[in-house]
Amino acid sequence: MTNNKQQTTKLYNEKDWQKGYRSLTNEYDYGIDEIEGEIPPQLQGTLFRNGPGLFAIHGTEIRHPFDGDGMISAITFKEGSAHFRNRFVRTEAFVQEQQAGKMLYRGVFGTQKPGGWLNNIFDLRLKNIANTNIIYWGGKLLALWEAAEPYRLAPDTLETLGIDYLDGLLSPGDSFAAHPWIDPSSALDDGEPCLVNFSIKPGLSSKIIIYEFAPTGKLLRHHSQIIPGFAFIHDFAITEHYCIFLQNPVSYNPLPFIFGLQGAGQCLKLQPQQSTRIVIIPRDCQSQESMKVIETKAGFVFHHANAFEQGDKIYLDSICYASLPELEPGAKYQEPNFAALEPGQLWRFTLNLPEETATPELIESRCCEFPITHPDYVGRPYRYLFMGAAAQETGNAPLQGILKLDLKSGKRWLHCFAPEGYVGEPIFVPRPGSKEEDDGWILVLVFDSRHLRSDLIILDGRNFEAPPVARLHLKHHIPYGLHGSWTSEFEFSTL
Ligand code: CO
Repeated sequence: MTNNKQQTTKLYNEKDWQKGYRSLTNEYDYGIDEIEGEIPPQLQGTLFRNGPGLFAIHGTEIRHPFDGDGMISAITFKEGSAHFRNRFVRTEAFVQEQQAGKMLYRGVFGTQKPGGWLNNIFDLRLKNIANTNIIYWGGKLLALWEAAEPYRLAPDTLETLGIDYLDGLLSPGDSFAAHPWIDPSSALDDGEPCLVNFSIKPGLSSKIIIYEFAPTGKLLRHHSQIIPGFAFIHDFAITEHYCIFLQNPVSYNPLPFIFGLQGAGQCLKLQPQQSTRIVIIPRDCQSQESMKVIETKAGFVFHHANAFEQGDKIYLDSICYASLPELEPGAKYQEPNFAALEPGQLWRFTLNLPEETATPELIESRCCEFPITHPDYVGRPYRYLFMGAAAQETGNAPLQGILKLDLKSGKRWLHCFAPEGYVGEPIFVPRPGSKEEDDGWILVLVFDSRHLRSDLIILDGRNFEAPPVARLHLKHHIPYGLHGSWTSEFEFSTL
């Protein structure tokens, strides 16, 4: 830590940051005509984003943005022009609440129906809000929320088609995680790509089910493992031969939820005196190799950057928090005390499989989140990592820039949008025909708090600190979102 004044200067403003958490009630459909710079003509395809779009339901405020109804944004690029469209996912609960003219459901992260605990007690229904991620795979566009089934949408109009049970794989009430990975060349499938995802059934012991799908959407294999203890697992990592899960030491006491006082997600508590369990499951269900569990120090992880195998070691890169990021009781999510919270930081865990040991090493101490890589390097040795990062070097702060890390040389480049810009998750799109790992574009939505609108920024992966290749001004803001994906497969017919 350092007291260097320049490094600790606060470059954000809470009041400006808060403005990104306003509902976007309109649904738009337009060609983007306010563009600085030029959209590379080779950039062709669609960027899909998901995140909360409504922060109040008929006048009742939600208590946490994770409880907000999912809204999809799609930006399609074709021959140097771009088209924007956004639609709410019309989940059953969203439609019911719109028709009823009032809030009908509690939220997992603390949203309570009006009327106090008496109106919430014993209401244990989950509201599937489909707000966390969106993927295009096997000809289907799916909005994901980890505690329930995916919703399918029409890729061209974003019209909601309904719950998708993945050709009968899922049953009503099943869950499907919001963090699938695409293995670019699956060793079990003659080098064809495949989609790997999981679902978890937590309890006194927890069941992890791993699913792998062919590019057609057909299920290739699925298998399950039981791990002892309660597990809250948001994301995982893959390598060529393994799936890796972090079982953070959390306990779950559902009584405040059952009695109508808190959301289910608020009943999780980190147990810092216990260790984190790293669960390593072979992807090949025919394999003779069994699951391994390696313990390491406590901490909390939402997101993994990547993982890869080398010899008898696995390297796992993850964003770790020293404590579970949570609001103080009664605090509003729009008014967090940024400086009092622990920052997310990038750690590398070296897992020695024969010795069953884990060695953690801090790679990046700057506050960061939403890590991404070149898609061809998922699960493979890799060099470059891109992620949302704070403008200031130390302490916790909102994400205002994108950090590029060269894991080989240790070099770092920060493309910063402070003081007025606030960023979400970046996406890396390789330049067609490129050979270098960082040769591509980084696409990121930046909330411009001065003009109260969002820009889609295109950065050059190799010339990272140069002015953006293009800055596309949207006609409105997009509330801070969660995750999204890129597909070059699909083009809107309207362009
Ligand atoms: Co996530």
